[in-house]
Amino acid sequence: MKKTRLAIIGLGNLGRKCVEAIQSDQQTELAGVVRRPEGAHAPWLKAPAVTHVSELDRVDGALICVPVDAVADTAKSLLQSRIPVVECARLHSVAFINHKSDIHRAALHHKVPAIVGAGCDPGAVSLFRNQFALLAPRGHTETRLHTGTSLHHTLAASGIKGVKRALATELPSREGVLQRYVYVELEPSADAANVADAIVNDPLFLDEETRVFAVPSIDTLEETDRGVVLERHAAAGDPGHATLLLEGRYDEAGLAARMMLAAARALPFLQAGAYSLLDLPPGVLWGEQRHAAEKEWM
Ligand SMILES: NC(=O)c1ccc[n+]([C@@H]2O[C@H](COP(=O)([O-])OP(=O)(O)OC[C@H]3O[C@@H](n4cnc5c(N)ncnc54)[C@H](OP(=O)(O)O)[C@@H]3O)[C@@H](O)[C@H]2O)c1
Repeated sequence: MKKTRLAIIGLGNLGRKCVEAIQSDQQTELAGVVRRPEGAHAPWLKAPAVTHVSELDRVDGALICVPVDAVADTAKSLLQSRIPVVECARLHSVAFINHKSDIHRAALHHKVPAIVGAGCDPGAVSLFRNQFALLAPRGHTETRLHTGTSLHHTLAASGIKGVKRALATELPSREGVLQRYVYVELEPSADAANVADAIVNDPLFLDEETRVFAVPSIDTLEETDRGVVLERHAAAGDPGHATLLLEGRYDEAGLAARMMLAAARALPFLQAGAYSLLDLPPGVLWGEQRHAAEKEWM
């Protein structure tokens, strides 16, 4: 399989995560990094660092990781050099649509594909929001960001059989009612469903709605400082009463880099123009592994 060679533009927080993501990916390889001349020295980088993309050998696509106000110009300049791009500038709603139209014109003009908004949010989280709305079309969605700093150790939960360690946090629902989220690291022999049941029904937790999530490591959870709760409630009159919940904790730039890389795998399959993640068939984000993914996940 011929690997897709990618350039990273800008070696900040996201750019570094893109380097890591490419290094751990089978389908892509790092052609090099394009940096400003004043960019900080990066002796750990095992790839060429240049000041213009034309200095790199064969580039099949570029991941744009520059500040949001520099993204459009950077993208247009790469498109002009006939290099397909992926970016994830933090733009939403009307600003996102205007940005996409702007890039679309340039992409059509230079006959090259571009994928916009392919990060964490916009990006992966947008896909979940969209999917929830498709499944519960009449209803409302809440997105709440929270940080690891609000987590506290809970002796009550860590006293439950099968729980090695536990952390809890409380977050207000849309109605202002507090909900408790309990994260548990389980003993190897423990059954997650039984533990969740025991915690939810423990008298100490009956004062608030309590949700339990098993995590591989409480230490890792404490280190991460990003989390999202995405909740979709079907409208009151909806007979299915669907409630869909996504509770996630992650390193935001790390997740954005993974999404950019998935988008980059789709580039060889696209015609000229700008695409958001909603424009792409999910399978194309797997690139050459599309059929294996379909077999595994469908
Ligand atoms: N959608 C998402 O979920 C998501 C998540 C994270 C970030 N983002 C987006 O990713 C982009 C980068 O974020 P970041 O947190 O990595 O920022 P950052 O840490 O500030 O890094 C940006 C890098 O761009 C380069 N740069 C700085 N000023 C520049 C300029 N005026 N023109 C061109 N390049 C410049 C620098 O790299 P060199 O020193 O190597 O030149 C800098 O380290 C932003 O557009 C942000 O909105 C999106």
